[in-house]
Amino acid sequence: MSGLFISFEGNDGAGKSTQAELLKKHLSEEGFSCCLFREPGGTDISEKIREIILDNANYKMKHLTEAYLYAAARCQLVREKIMPALKGGQIVICDRFLDSSLVYQGIGRGLGTDIVKDINKYAVGSLKPDLTFFLHLDPAEAINRHKDERELDRMENQKAYFHNRVYRGFLDIAHGESERIVTVEANRPLKVISAEIARIIDSFINGRGLQNEQLKRFFGQ
Ligand code: TMP
Repeated sequence: MSGLFISFEGNDGAGKSTQAELLKKHLSEEGFSCCLFREPGGTDISEKIREIILDNANYKMKHLTEAYLYAAARCQLVREKIMPALKGGQIVICDRFLDSSLVYQGIGRGLGTDIVKDINKYAVGSLKPDLTFFLHLDPAEAINRHKDERELDRMENQKAYFHNRVYRGFLDIAHGESERIVTVEANRPLKVISAEIARIIDSFINGRGLQNEQLKRFFGQ
């Protein structure tokens, strides 16, 4: 039995990380074995790459270098953590995945999605999320959510037009891949959003025949 791969996407500040945590809690309470990773990050090596990417001191970083660094962090995460977990039948939740590179580097930075797909070809192989939640929030509202809490990182510090391009990029890919990407309105109370996500995932899992009792037996719980 292979597991289930779920990703969360959206502009900085849209609330993905919180919703990813809440989904993990929901699925664990239902008896599923699941793990949550963030991108870039999720392994010791990928977290080190994350520090390089997000460091404001690295303002000289070329767009192509940035794209390769995201792909390198992803390559390590896929091989070290995601593939073994999926092979073990677990539910893997990823806070961002390849869609973020397509949108931030391909569209936001203007490298083009074909180049970004090429760069990532060997990093991800044929691995693709089974289901993606796109948390939809106006980019100006999204970035303002973090402004007063902490110092913004190198990506968050990009100008408003960059975040707007990223936003339009997400809208485009969500529209183009509506079978996989579910758009969730993120300007609502946390609990309303998490309840909607839980409903969607429960019916998706049941539709695939991955009943929790079945998984529990598989893991001998
Ligand atoms: P996070 O704040 O959601 O953890 O993501 C870190 C930043 O990296 C965020 O600004 C989005 C950006 N990013 C990319 O530009 N390309 C990528 O492939 C990924 C995974 C993230």
